[in-house]
Amino acid sequence: MIRIQSKIATCLVAVALLAATTAYAGESADVIKQRIGTGDPVAGKSESSLCQGCHGEEGLSLEELIPNLAGQYASYIAKELRNYQSGARTHQIMNAMAKTITDTGLVNIAAYFASQEKMQGGGWGDNRVAKKLFLKGDMTRNIQSCVSCHGEKGKGKATHISTYPVIGGQHKAYLRAQLINWRKDERTNSPDSVMSKIAKSLTDAEIEALTDYISGL
Ligand code: HEC
Ligand code: HEC
Repeated sequence: MIRIQSKIATCLVAVALLAATTAYAGESADVIKQRIGTGDPVAGKSESSLCQGCHGEEGLSLEELIPNLAGQYASYIAKELRNYQSGARTHQIMNAMAKTITDTGLVNIAAYFASQEKMQGGGWGDNRVAKKLFLKGDMTRNIQSCVSCHGEKGKGKATHISTYPVIGGQHKAYLRAQLINWRKDERTNSPDSVMSKIAKSLTDAEIEALTDYISGL
Protein backbone atom coordinates (compact mmCIF):
# COMPACT_ATOMS: atom_id res chain seq x y z
CA MET A 1 0.00 0.00 0.00
CA ILE A 2 2.82 2.37 0.99
CA ARG A 3 4.59 1.46 -2.24
CA ILE A 4 1.48 2.26 -4.24
CA GLN A 5 1.05 5.55 -2.40
CA SER A 6 4.65 6.53 -3.04
CA LYS A 7 4.20 5.67 -6.71
CA ILE A 8 1.14 7.89 -6.82
CA ALA A 9 3.12 10.64 -5.07
CA THR A 10 5.92 10.32 -7.68
CA CYS A 11 3.32 10.57 -10.41
CA LEU A 12 1.78 13.69 -8.88
CA VAL A 13 5.22 15.29 -8.65
CA ALA A 14 5.83 14.50 -12.33
CA VAL A 15 2.48 16.05 -13.23
CA ALA A 16 3.24 19.14 -11.12
CA LEU A 17 6.61 19.47 -12.85
CA LEU A 18 4.95 19.22 -16.23
CA ALA A 19 2.39 21.86 -15.31
CA ALA A 20 5.20 24.13 -14.12
CA THR A 21 7.03 23.99 -17.44
CA THR A 22 5.97 26.21 -20.31
CA ALA A 23 3.05 25.18 -22.49
CA TYR A 24 2.91 21.51 -23.51
CA ALA A 25 6.08 21.62 -25.59
CA GLY A 26 6.14 18.57 -27.86
CA GLU A 27 8.89 16.17 -27.01
CA SER A 28 10.95 17.53 -24.10
CA ALA A 29 12.52 14.91 -21.81
CA ASP A 30 10.03 15.70 -19.03
CA VAL A 31 7.09 15.28 -21.36
CA ILE A 32 8.37 11.96 -22.69
CA LYS A 33 9.01 10.70 -19.15
CA GLN A 34 5.55 11.73 -18.12
CA ARG A 35 4.05 9.99 -21.15
CA ILE A 36 5.85 6.70 -20.43
CA GLY A 37 4.88 6.49 -16.76
CA THR A 38 6.43 4.06 -14.32
CA GLY A 39 6.72 0.90 -16.45
CA ASP A 40 9.83 -0.63 -18.00
CA PRO A 41 9.76 -0.12 -21.79
CA VAL A 42 12.56 -2.64 -22.41
CA ALA A 43 10.70 -5.43 -20.62
CA GLY A 44 7.50 -4.21 -22.29
CA LYS A 45 9.00 -4.68 -25.74
CA SER A 46 9.45 -8.43 -25.28
CA GLU A 47 6.23 -8.83 -23.28
CA SER A 48 4.25 -7.26 -26.15
CA SER A 49 5.35 -9.56 -28.96
CA LEU A 50 1.81 -10.93 -29.36
CA CYS A 51 0.37 -7.41 -29.43
CA GLN A 52 2.92 -6.26 -32.02
CA GLY A 53 1.49 -8.81 -34.46
CA CYS A 54 -1.58 -6.55 -34.78
CA HIS A 55 -0.50 -3.14 -33.45
CA GLY A 56 2.88 -3.12 -35.24
CA GLU A 57 6.37 -3.55 -33.83
CA GLU A 58 6.63 0.17 -33.17
CA GLY A 59 2.94 0.67 -32.42
CA LEU A 60 1.96 1.64 -35.97
CA SER A 61 -0.62 -0.79 -37.31
CA LEU A 62 -1.24 -1.54 -40.95
CA GLU A 63 -4.95 -2.20 -40.51
CA GLU A 64 -7.32 0.81 -40.34
CA LEU A 65 -9.49 -0.62 -37.56
CA ILE A 66 -6.53 -1.52 -35.33
CA PRO A 67 -5.42 1.61 -33.49
CA ASN A 68 -1.86 2.95 -33.54
CA LEU A 69 -0.36 2.89 -30.05
CA ALA A 70 2.92 4.68 -30.91
CA GLY A 71 3.47 7.59 -28.54
CA GLN A 72 0.10 7.09 -26.87
CA TYR A 73 0.04 7.97 -23.16
CA ALA A 74 0.92 4.95 -21.02
CA SER A 75 -1.74 5.86 -18.47
CA TYR A 76 -4.38 5.84 -21.22
CA ILE A 77 -3.16 2.51 -22.68
CA ALA A 78 -3.21 1.01 -19.17
CA LYS A 79 -6.70 2.34 -18.44
CA GLU A 80 -8.08 0.90 -21.69
CA LEU A 81 -6.45 -2.50 -21.04
CA ARG A 82 -7.97 -2.59 -17.55
CA ASN A 83 -11.32 -1.59 -19.04
CA TYR A 84 -11.04 -4.49 -21.53
CA GLN A 85 -10.09 -6.84 -18.66
CA SER A 86 -13.10 -5.83 -16.56
CA GLY A 87 -15.51 -5.64 -19.50
CA ALA A 88 -16.07 -1.87 -19.07
CA ARG A 89 -14.96 -1.63 -22.72
CA THR A 90 -16.07 -4.45 -24.96
CA HIS A 91 -14.36 -5.87 -28.04
CA GLN A 92 -14.15 -9.62 -28.55
CA ILE A 93 -10.46 -9.78 -29.49
CA MET A 94 -9.23 -7.19 -27.01
CA ASN A 95 -11.25 -8.57 -24.08
CA ALA A 96 -9.44 -11.89 -24.65
CA MET A 97 -6.02 -10.29 -25.31
CA ALA A 98 -6.11 -8.09 -22.22
CA LYS A 99 -6.76 -11.13 -20.04
CA THR A 100 -3.47 -12.72 -21.14
CA ILE A 101 -1.30 -10.09 -19.41
CA THR A 102 -0.37 -9.54 -15.77
CA ASP A 103 -0.66 -6.15 -14.12
CA THR A 104 3.13 -5.62 -14.24
CA GLY A 105 3.21 -6.72 -17.87
CA LEU A 106 0.40 -4.31 -18.62
CA VAL A 107 2.30 -1.32 -17.21
CA ASN A 108 5.52 -2.32 -19.04
CA ILE A 109 3.74 -2.85 -22.36
CA ALA A 110 2.04 0.53 -22.00
CA ALA A 111 5.47 2.11 -21.35
CA TYR A 112 6.94 0.42 -24.44
CA PHE A 113 4.30 1.70 -26.86
CA ALA A 114 4.29 5.13 -25.19
CA SER A 115 8.06 5.41 -25.70
CA GLN A 116 7.79 5.00 -29.48
CA GLU A 117 7.85 7.98 -31.80
CA LYS A 118 4.42 9.56 -31.74
CA MET A 119 1.94 8.65 -34.51
CA GLN A 120 1.76 11.29 -37.26
CA GLY A 121 -0.75 12.05 -39.99
CA GLY A 122 0.13 13.17 -43.48
CA GLY A 123 -1.57 16.57 -43.31
CA TRP A 124 -4.53 15.52 -45.46
CA GLY A 125 -8.18 16.17 -44.66
CA ASP A 126 -7.98 19.89 -43.95
CA ASN A 127 -11.57 21.12 -44.09
CA ARG A 128 -13.46 24.09 -42.66
CA VAL A 129 -16.22 22.18 -40.83
CA ALA A 130 -13.74 19.98 -38.98
CA LYS A 131 -11.23 22.70 -38.25
CA LYS A 132 -13.91 24.85 -36.65
CA LEU A 133 -15.22 22.04 -34.43
CA PHE A 134 -11.72 20.90 -33.57
CA LEU A 135 -10.44 24.34 -32.62
CA LYS A 136 -13.58 26.12 -31.41
CA GLY A 137 -16.30 23.55 -30.80
CA ASP A 138 -19.92 24.69 -31.01
CA MET A 139 -21.26 26.06 -27.76
CA THR A 140 -24.79 26.38 -29.17
CA ARG A 141 -24.84 22.56 -28.98
CA ASN A 142 -22.61 22.24 -25.93
CA ILE A 143 -19.74 20.78 -27.95
CA GLN A 144 -16.45 21.76 -26.35
CA SER A 145 -13.53 22.07 -28.78
CA CYS A 146 -11.52 18.87 -29.24
CA VAL A 147 -8.26 20.83 -28.85
CA SER A 148 -9.19 21.95 -25.33
CA CYS A 149 -8.87 18.37 -24.10
CA HIS A 150 -6.85 16.48 -26.74
CA GLY A 151 -4.23 19.20 -27.03
CA GLU A 152 -2.55 20.90 -29.94
CA LYS A 153 -2.87 18.81 -33.13
CA GLY A 154 -4.66 16.19 -31.01
CA LYS A 155 -1.33 14.99 -29.61
CA GLY A 156 -2.82 14.29 -26.19
CA LYS A 157 -2.43 15.78 -22.77
CA ALA A 158 -2.08 14.54 -19.21
CA THR A 159 -3.31 16.65 -16.32
CA HIS A 160 -3.82 15.81 -12.65
CA ILE A 161 -7.49 15.14 -13.44
CA SER A 162 -7.34 12.94 -16.51
CA THR A 163 -5.34 11.69 -19.47
CA TYR A 164 -6.57 12.82 -22.85
CA PRO A 165 -5.40 10.35 -25.50
CA VAL A 166 -3.46 11.17 -28.65
CA ILE A 167 -5.95 11.21 -31.52
CA GLY A 168 -3.98 13.25 -34.11
CA GLY A 169 -2.47 10.87 -36.66
CA GLN A 170 -4.69 7.94 -35.58
CA HIS A 171 -6.35 5.85 -38.34
CA LYS A 172 -9.49 7.47 -39.71
CA ALA A 173 -11.62 4.29 -39.72
CA TYR A 174 -10.70 3.57 -36.08
CA LEU A 175 -11.56 7.14 -34.99
CA ARG A 176 -14.88 6.95 -36.82
CA ALA A 177 -15.72 3.58 -35.29
CA GLN A 178 -15.11 4.92 -31.77
CA LEU A 179 -17.29 8.02 -32.25
CA ILE A 180 -20.08 5.84 -33.63
CA ASN A 181 -19.67 3.33 -30.75
CA TRP A 182 -20.06 6.14 -28.22
CA ARG A 183 -23.07 7.49 -30.01
CA LYS A 184 -24.73 4.04 -29.94
CA ASP A 185 -23.67 3.43 -26.30
CA GLU A 186 -21.50 0.53 -27.46
CA ARG A 187 -18.49 2.23 -25.86
CA THR A 188 -19.36 3.83 -22.52
CA ASN A 189 -16.02 4.11 -20.71
CA SER A 190 -15.08 7.78 -21.03
CA PRO A 191 -14.88 9.67 -17.71
CA ASP A 192 -18.24 11.34 -16.89
CA SER A 193 -19.47 10.09 -20.29
CA VAL A 194 -17.76 13.10 -21.83
CA MET A 195 -17.22 11.43 -25.21
CA SER A 196 -20.71 9.89 -25.30
CA LYS A 197 -22.24 13.36 -24.94
CA ILE A 198 -19.99 14.87 -27.61
CA ALA A 199 -20.48 12.01 -30.10
CA LYS A 200 -24.27 12.19 -29.71
CA SER A 201 -24.21 15.88 -30.69
CA LEU A 202 -22.25 15.31 -33.90
CA THR A 203 -23.93 14.67 -37.27
CA ASP A 204 -22.70 11.91 -39.62
CA ALA A 205 -21.19 14.54 -41.93
CA GLU A 206 -19.34 16.12 -39.01
CA ILE A 207 -17.95 12.76 -37.87
CA GLU A 208 -16.76 12.13 -41.41
CA ALA A 209 -15.11 15.58 -41.66
CA LEU A 210 -13.57 15.44 -38.17
CA THR A 211 -12.06 11.97 -38.55
CA ASP A 212 -10.63 12.94 -41.95
CA TYR A 213 -9.04 16.03 -40.42
CA ILE A 214 -7.78 14.46 -37.16
CA SER A 215 -6.23 11.42 -38.85
CA GLY A 216 -4.15 13.82 -40.94
CA LEU A 217 -2.74 15.77 -37.96
C1 HEC B 1 -5.71 -9.81 -33.42
C2 HEC B 1 -5.33 -8.41 -33.40
C3 HEC B 1 -5.00 -7.78 -32.06
C4 HEC B 1 -4.10 -8.22 -31.11
C5 HEC B 1 -3.24 -9.50 -31.15
C6 HEC B 1 -4.06 -7.21 -30.08
N1 HEC B 1 -4.92 -6.18 -30.39
FE1 HEC B 1 -5.20 -4.49 -29.28
N2 HEC B 1 -6.69 -3.91 -30.54
C7 HEC B 1 -7.10 -4.60 -31.67
C8 HEC B 1 -8.31 -3.98 -32.20
C9 HEC B 1 -9.09 -4.41 -33.41
C10 HEC B 1 -8.59 -2.87 -31.36
C11 HEC B 1 -9.79 -1.91 -31.43
C12 HEC B 1 -10.82 -2.45 -30.46
C13 HEC B 1 -12.01 -1.56 -30.21
O1 HEC B 1 -12.55 -1.02 -31.17
O2 HEC B 1 -12.40 -1.42 -29.02
C14 HEC B 1 -7.54 -2.85 -30.34
C15 HEC B 1 -7.47 -1.90 -29.32
C16 HEC B 1 -6.46 -1.83 -28.39
C17 HEC B 1 -6.27 -0.76 -27.44
C18 HEC B 1 -7.12 0.50 -27.31
C19 HEC B 1 -6.40 1.65 -27.96
C20 HEC B 1 -7.11 2.96 -27.92
O3 HEC B 1 -6.63 3.88 -28.61
O4 HEC B 1 -8.11 3.11 -27.21
C21 HEC B 1 -5.16 -1.07 -26.70
C22 HEC B 1 -4.56 -0.25 -25.58
C23 HEC B 1 -4.66 -2.33 -27.19
N3 HEC B 1 -5.46 -2.77 -28.22
C24 HEC B 1 -3.54 -2.99 -26.68
C25 HEC B 1 -3.19 -4.30 -27.03
C26 HEC B 1 -2.22 -5.10 -26.30
C27 HEC B 1 -1.41 -4.61 -25.11
C28 HEC B 1 -2.17 -6.31 -26.91
C29 HEC B 1 -1.34 -7.53 -26.51
C30 HEC B 1 -1.62 -8.08 -25.19
C31 HEC B 1 -3.09 -6.28 -28.03
N4 HEC B 1 -3.70 -5.05 -28.06
C32 HEC B 1 -3.29 -7.30 -28.93
C33 HEC B 1 -6.49 -5.72 -32.21
C34 HEC B 1 -5.53 -6.49 -31.57
C1 HEC C 1 -13.81 17.54 -22.02
C2 HEC C 1 -12.69 16.81 -22.61
C3 HEC C 1 -12.84 16.24 -24.02
C4 HEC C 1 -13.26 16.91 -25.15
C5 HEC C 1 -13.77 18.34 -25.28
C6 HEC C 1 -13.12 15.96 -26.24
N1 HEC C 1 -12.62 14.76 -25.79
FE1 HEC C 1 -12.31 13.09 -26.87
N2 HEC C 1 -11.74 12.07 -25.21
C7 HEC C 1 -11.68 12.61 -23.93
C8 HEC C 1 -11.24 11.59 -23.00
C9 HEC C 1 -11.04 11.76 -21.50
C10 HEC C 1 -11.03 10.42 -23.76
C11 HEC C 1 -10.59 9.04 -23.24
C12 HEC C 1 -11.80 8.18 -22.99
C13 HEC C 1 -11.49 6.92 -22.22
O1 HEC C 1 -11.01 7.02 -21.08
O2 HEC C 1 -11.72 5.82 -22.74
C14 HEC C 1 -11.35 10.76 -25.14
C15 HEC C 1 -11.28 9.87 -26.20
C16 HEC C 1 -11.53 10.19 -27.53
C17 HEC C 1 -11.40 9.28 -28.65
C18 HEC C 1 -10.99 7.81 -28.57
C19 HEC C 1 -9.51 7.67 -28.75
C20 HEC C 1 -9.07 6.23 -28.80
O3 HEC C 1 -7.86 6.01 -28.99
O4 HEC C 1 -9.89 5.32 -28.67
C21 HEC C 1 -11.77 9.96 -29.77
C22 HEC C 1 -11.82 9.44 -31.19
C23 HEC C 1 -12.10 11.32 -29.37
N3 HEC C 1 -11.95 11.41 -27.99
C24 HEC C 1 -12.49 12.32 -30.24
C25 HEC C 1 -12.83 13.61 -29.85
C26 HEC C 1 -13.30 14.64 -30.77
C27 HEC C 1 -13.45 14.46 -32.28
C28 HEC C 1 -13.57 15.76 -30.01
C29 HEC C 1 -14.11 17.10 -30.47
C30 HEC C 1 -15.36 17.08 -31.23
C31 HEC C 1 -13.27 15.40 -28.62
N4 HEC C 1 -12.83 14.10 -28.56
C32 HEC C 1 -13.43 16.26 -27.55
C33 HEC C 1 -11.97 13.91 -23.58
C34 HEC C 1 -12.45 14.90 -24.43
